[in-house]
Amino acid sequence: MTITRRHALHLSLGALATMGACAQHKLQARDPGDSDSQRKNIKIDETTFLKEVATNRGLIYGSVGRYPDLTTDEEFADLFAQECTMLVNGNALKWKYVHPQPDRYDFAKGDELAAFARNNGMLFRGHTLIWSQALPNWFREQANRKNAEQLMTEHVQSVVKHYAGQMHSWDVANECVFPGHERNDGLRKSIWLRLLGKDYIELAFRAAAEADPQALLVYNDNRMHSDTEDGEATRTAVLKLLERLLAKGTPVHALGMQAHLWAKDEMPLNPQKITAFVREVADLGLKIVVSEMDVKDKHLPTDTQERDRLIADAYRTYLDAVLQEPAVTTVVTWGISDRYSWRNKPKFGGNRPDGTLVRPLPRDRDLQRKPAWYAIAQAFNNAPAR
Ligand code: XIL
Repeated sequence: MTITRRHALHLSLGALATMGACAQHKLQARDPGDSDSQRKNIKIDETTFLKEVATNRGLIYGSVGRYPDLTTDEEFADLFAQECTMLVNGNALKWKYVHPQPDRYDFAKGDELAAFARNNGMLFRGHTLIWSQALPNWFREQANRKNAEQLMTEHVQSVVKHYAGQMHSWDVANECVFPGHERNDGLRKSIWLRLLGKDYIELAFRAAAEADPQALLVYNDNRMHSDTEDGEATRTAVLKLLERLLAKGTPVHALGMQAHLWAKDEMPLNPQKITAFVREVADLGLKIVVSEMDVKDKHLPTDTQERDRLIADAYRTYLDAVLQEPAVTTVVTWGISDRYSWRNKPKFGGNRPDGTLVRPLPRDRDLQRKPAWYAIAQAFNNAPAR
């Protein structure tokens, strides 16, 4: 077997493990019963980090980390490196930031994040190449049916090549499904669909694979967890899309499930449906990355204890459901501390009716562990080993 970089990255992850079997064994360990050391629970207390608990089960745990939070807040950065095995860039590699002018790329912030990951022995994960949001004005003004394919290919290849050899995985296409737009295939009516038709997703994956044949290429989307009509339609459409891509030989390797949960009835969780869904994805031969997990608490009670309990319950319910499936290799939270969360912004849920601050992440603003942190650690400990 040739050792691809995908394997090599898993091997280097093994080297990060503070205990457990050798890396080679970890690669093969799929049956939870096949090694005592894999099954032993890590003791969870205020000295434990999620990295240890995840690694003990052969899981990757990571978080989004933004520029400049990681480069200016030393206390936070130190904790980040202790807690996480993987760093995902926040906004720095979205199109309008990394490619602000037609003939100018700006890799400075992405490079700083890549260096942070490298210097701390962490995996680096890229987010995101093709999305209907975060496009620069120049693109919206200049792109047409004739030049869109070339603009897309050029962008994808330039960005992916720049980080080739450094990226564990790339979110190649983000949020392409939106059943609310009422197309038979469930695809979102986006600028990409309008200019290139539905093959734009395949084109993006092919361009990325050419530029970095060894990165894990991910299709990323949201709302697959939701036990609503929309959630059901999203799951169906995502499966259909993945099947179609695979049938055409598209180099898609994994599904990213954002998992922006809402701890409220609008987005109820149904663990059986979530487990069944990840199983169906795994049956296609794909890996699964929980890619942007957090819990929106906009409509939860003011009382901190009660709120934290409900948030922790959402983390626990979701993770217990997805981690049943060994093809789920990675869990990424969309931040580690409420100090830095997109949910602090009013338009993303920061405008709680009672005026109190949001608490969507595993640690509070003082970087202390919350019930959500313990729920994640327990879910990792309870998961079958990978
Ligand atoms: C969010 C970032 O966290 C914010 O800082 C930014 O203002 C908006 O985007 N789904 C995605 C992510 O795929 O890119 C989004 O990130 C959150 C929703």
